[in-house]
Amino acid sequence: MSRWQDKVVLITGGGAGIGRHYAHRWAAEGASLVIADLDPAAHGRVVEELEGLGAQALGVTMDVSDAAAVEAAVGGAVDRFGGIDVLVNNAGIHLQHAQLPFTVEAVPKWRQVLEVNVLGVLTCSAAARTAMAGRDGAAIVNHSSMAAYLGGGAYSVSKLALNSLTVGLAEAFAEDGIRVNGIAPGLVDSESAVEWMNDPERAGIQQTLVAGQMIKRPGRMTDLADVALWLCSPEASFVTGQTILVDGGFTKKPY
Ligand SMILES: NC(=O)c1ccc[n+]([C@@H]2O[C@H](COP(=O)([O-])OP(=O)(O)OC[C@H]3O[C@@H](n4cnc5c(N)ncnc54)[C@H](O)[C@@H]3O)[C@@H](O)[C@H]2O)c1
Repeated sequence: MSRWQDKVVLITGGGAGIGRHYAHRWAAEGASLVIADLDPAAHGRVVEELEGLGAQALGVTMDVSDAAAVEAAVGGAVDRFGGIDVLVNNAGIHLQHAQLPFTVEAVPKWRQVLEVNVLGVLTCSAAARTAMAGRDGAAIVNHSSMAAYLGGGAYSVSKLALNSLTVGLAEAFAEDGIRVNGIAPGLVDSESAVEWMNDPERAGIQQTLVAGQMIKRPGRMTDLADVALWLCSPEASFVTGQTILVDGGFTKKPY
């Protein structure tokens, strides 16, 4: 029997890209999935895929920055499965949507990036806390980015703030037996990232990134899933408050 049998995993932004990939990995290992996404068609599609594979899955429509919707989604997960073992805070505003000018006019958009990428994680974690408290192996994974350590645009600022939030949540939730960690990926092959890379305006971006890594191959969603599942497994039971870079060594490469 798989270690994830009878475990309940809620993934925000699970309707596409990395979140969908995680959902398939956890389902293949026996977990029940709650796919929470802004886009009902996207979570509906993923739930269908998972059920087709024989997994238990529930789709919920929610925006991570809408506290009432998040609480309703957590309530739905508890009604269906009795609790939550793993929360993956994966939903985020990224790529061209988070490249913003440093102007007064752009401040509302900066606020939206921080609202989703930072406060959305706080909202989902706080809302799920009671449903996770005291469950054996309860764990949260927050989706950061290597961008946290590069530059200072809206996206980088949000992901660096998220790394700090991960430490704060880890300390606050430890008394409930909930570990909280983060993953900071380099660029990987989610559909949205591939589309972004393939824009002629960014010709050669992937080669440039790979050339800057210690490991000379593109990052893949599978690289992240291996780390995410490990972070939530019993093998990582003494790991909390960490954000692990999964970027082929890009941000650690010496001059
Ligand atoms: N793709 C990469 O190369 C990469 C690299 C580093 C970090 N990340 C981070 O990983 C996460 C996922 O990336 P991806 O490429 O799979 O993203 P994506 O844009 O392909 O998919 C994101 C999913 O989240 C949903 N979503 C967006 N905003 C939401 C909200 N406010 N509430 C609920 N759902 C929402 C979307 O509908 C979509 O289904 C993001 O946090 C991103 O910042 C991605």
